[in-house]
Amino acid sequence: MSTVIRNIGELVTNEPGFGEGVLGVRRDAALVIDGGAVVWAGDAAAAPDADEVYDAGGRAVLPGFVDSHAHLVFAGERAEEFAARMSGEPYAAGGIRTTVARTRAAGDDELRANVRRLVAEMVRQGTTTVECKSGYGLTVDDEERAVRIASEEADEVTFLGAHVVPAEYADRPGEYVRLVSTDMLARCAPYATWIDVFCERGAFDADQAREVLEAGVRAGLTPRVHANQLGEGPGVRLAVELGAASADHCTFLSDADVDALAGSETVATLLPGVEFSTRQPYPDARRLLDAGAAVALASDCNPGSCYTSSMAFCIAVAVRDMRMTPAEAVWAATAGGARALRRTDVGRLGAGARADVLVLDAPSHVHLAYRPGVPQVAAVWKAGKREV
Ligand code: NIG
Ligand code: FE
Repeated sequence: MSTVIRNIGELVTNEPGFGEGVLGVRRDAALVIDGGAVVWAGDAAAAPDADEVYDAGGRAVLPGFVDSHAHLVFAGERAEEFAARMSGEPYAAGGIRTTVARTRAAGDDELRANVRRLVAEMVRQGTTTVECKSGYGLTVDDEERAVRIASEEADEVTFLGAHVVPAEYADRPGEYVRLVSTDMLARCAPYATWIDVFCERGAFDADQAREVLEAGVRAGLTPRVHANQLGEGPGVRLAVELGAASADHCTFLSDADVDALAGSETVATLLPGVEFSTRQPYPDARRLLDAGAAVALASDCNPGSCYTSSMAFCIAVAVRDMRMTPAEAVWAATAGGARALRRTDVGRLGAGARADVLVLDAPSHVHLAYRPGVPQVAAVWKAGKREV
């Protein structure tokens, strides 16, 4: 069943040749989707007929958001930890262990229901591609369970056995790193595309991170790295050296880190919800963009450092406080996320793309930052299926 979307106020394609600016915006366009794919985009006057017509009523039409960083397989929450932070407590990686204990104690059905709830919450807000990490199990069985459940519900799965050293290995972290790099990896790799490490003081140092990531590469996975979230460190440079698809957080960067990212294929994935929820300074997106680095925006939805699933919120903060233009932020939340996941079928609206379409209840993409906190989703298709 084909659908032609007409009367579009502004079509954001992320195809620079198709229209204006980095977003490839056209104002006189129509879009045809069929069988899960975009089959035609062009001048409204030349649009082919389709089985049904959707009248966008002058609204903006965008590619669905690509959320390239989320931790959804967990049980419980940490609202009190958040409240304490807002009263001055610092964020510490150790809070992860609280969620590990709750997650280990939960049944499969509880975990699956939580992931489904969050993915549904994301889709309602216009997110049509979701990456999901493990990392709250930290035993071979619990991590395998996490990547298995993630693979049932999410578009992209990342094995994050090296999230933090679990309490039972506190005095022998080297042994835990070996476990992650051998037996745990062997059980988890079949469900995952990506391998991630939290490379940070209080989590894993550069040598430990390298051991895990190189083992992951040997098992056929591609690295992405939690890097430079809480302070400057080796994470970003390690990510670039190992050809990671993305270095995530990038809050504290030296000039050498910025140059390394700019000269690489590694995307700098910024997670402004984390800085909002941990009262840290926001990363400087302008510095990365001016240096020539590719920037993505993602939610980092998790019960600890950032419990938002809203890409619109991330866009608004990035524009207000990270010196991104609205167009740059929307690109980063769509095409940038796709690049961070090395996907060419999502994050754009041109012939051959997956039919992931977001109709905003607004005339232009600028309204995502201009009207923060306001629900602005009028319709969503994911792979051609109408979700909203
Ligand atoms: O991306 N930084 C490490 N991991 C998550 C936080 C997890 C947690 O606090 O539970 C993050 O911010
Ligand atoms: Fe994260």
